[in-house]
Amino acid sequence: MSSLELNKIFGAILLAGLVGTLSAFIAEKLVEPKPLAKPVYVVQTAPADSGAAKPAAEPAGPAPIAPLLAVADPANGQKVTKVCQTCHNFDKGGPNKIGPNLWGIVGDKQAHLPSFAYSDAVAKLGGTWTYDELNKFLYSPKAYAPGTKMTFAGLKNDKERADAIAWLRTQNDNPPPLPQ
Ligand code: HEC
Repeated sequence: MSSLELNKIFGAILLAGLVGTLSAFIAEKLVEPKPLAKPVYVVQTAPADSGAAKPAAEPAGPAPIAPLLAVADPANGQKVTKVCQTCHNFDKGGPNKIGPNLWGIVGDKQAHLPSFAYSDAVAKLGGTWTYDELNKFLYSPKAYAPGTKMTFAGLKNDKERADAIAWLRTQNDNPPPLPQ
């Protein structure tokens, strides 16, 4: 092959490259990409307060107490309430500690001891510590009485909470009958 022919071939390749680059440049100018005004595909997200978005580990609230009390174990409840004894004494005529003495609390009025300085949150409750109210309070004191001085996360386990309430019932001169 003569050097002249080689030159022609190289020239052709160069020209082809030049034309390619140039046309790519022109094509880009002609079809300039425009940003979309809004995304074409919108990802559906659940609103924050919908039940579906909540992790399964956090149930909506305590299970109803009546069926749980029917099969509750007060002896286990006494063990569960060890955690309460940092702050509460349960003996008849016992002292107030960080929290009020809790002898006879089941069936008594809320904020049951005049000798204890309750938070406004608990002082203004004005109801009765029925099994049902204790169930809700002990599940989450903070949710039941926002602003309460009882800085205890709550007994989230249904059986433990029912056992504890069943034992509380025994620390009482005259406990109300179990709910049906
Ligand atoms: C960190 C301390 C602390 C722990 C632990 C604690 N409590 Fe309390 N509890 C308090 C305080 C303080 C109050 C008074 C709340 C207020 O005035 O807001 C209270 C109030 C109460 C009341 C309302 C009493 C009334 O007179 O109305 C009940 C019932 C009660 N606690 C039960 C329990 C039980 C049952 C447990 C264990 C499962 C427990 N508490 C664990 C500090 C505690």
